[in-house]
Amino acid sequence: MMGYMKDTITQLKNTALEAIAAANSLKETEELRIIYFGKKSPFTDILKSLKNLSTEEKRKIGPLANSAKIEVQEALKAKTEALESQFDAESEWIDVTAPGDKKNSGHLSPLTIVQRDIEEIFTSMGFEIADGPEVETEFYNFDAVNVPADHPARDMQDTFWAKNAVSKDSSEKECEQFVLRTHTSSVQVRYMELHTPPYRIIIPGRVFRQEATDASHEHTFHQFEALVVGDDVSVANFLSVAETFFSQFFGKKLKIRLRPSYFPFVEPGFEFDISCTNCGGKGCSSCQQTGWLEIGGAGMVHQNVLVAAGYERDQYTGFAWGFGMERLAMMKYKIDDVRHFHSGDIRFTKQF
Ligand code: PHE
Repeated sequence: MMGYMKDTITQLKNTALEAIAAANSLKETEELRIIYFGKKSPFTDILKSLKNLSTEEKRKIGPLANSAKIEVQEALKAKTEALESQFDAESEWIDVTAPGDKKNSGHLSPLTIVQRDIEEIFTSMGFEIADGPEVETEFYNFDAVNVPADHPARDMQDTFWAKNAVSKDSSEKECEQFVLRTHTSSVQVRYMELHTPPYRIIIPGRVFRQEATDASHEHTFHQFEALVVGDDVSVANFLSVAETFFSQFFGKKLKIRLRPSYFPFVEPGFEFDISCTNCGGKGCSSCQQTGWLEIGGAGMVHQNVLVAAGYERDQYTGFAWGFGMERLAMMKYKIDDVRHFHSGDIRFTKQF
């Protein structure tokens, strides 16, 4: 019995060591681990059968079986480690022709692109860029630009009024009502107060109107004001600046058309159109067959505005215009709904 057991152990050990030596992949060493040390391990069987032997025999066969097991275990471990540290050309193989892993980088919103285009064209014509607060006093948004309280013109722009916290010892200034500015014209008198003509500026910025939204109306949008004040500024200057700007912005020669209109802060006041960027003025579906596209409001700065800024009446003349930046972006990129801009829909913004 004892001799037979000895042979079995030696045979098992030799077979295992041979198999380990022959293995040359981690898959094979793993298979061997399962065969020799898994649930049905032959070493376990041997150790279990020791119970049938006499004490004397157990003392001899037990250590023999144990050391055989340890020897095989160590050989397997050494082989596995050797294979692990080996360079495996197959798994290291790289397909250099495979398409790259695309990194998505951020990009500018179409409105920022348009704003930067506008700023570039105007600064190249010698204009400066001015800025003002979005939460504005009633004075700069309305009174200063010749829209007195109770004047029906205040209703032309539906306004978000801010609730003021006024205590009984608030100063007169603090009692002032605040609004979310309804137009960038609110920056006109702020700028005039701090500067002496001549100057030419543009004022790009966000404005707010309390109105129902639809494909062409948003409660929050962007305008861009142009203001030129000097000794002898005329409608001809306005036309020439407008024509230069729009032709550069759309990359083709465009014509400007003025129509009489009313804005309290200009006299005379106009609505102005550009020749259709799509058909060049012949008439098409983009311009409802008229050949013209409506752009915005403009006019010669009302003397009351210049007086509100502290200038003497009739000392200077100037022109101003204002219109929606979204509208310009929509025309340039053929966007059909103004609500896309603030929708946060990445499928929209990704296109630019
Ligand atoms: N502020 C006017 C508006 O928002 C536009 C405008 C600006 C008109 C300057 C004339 C001159 O409707």
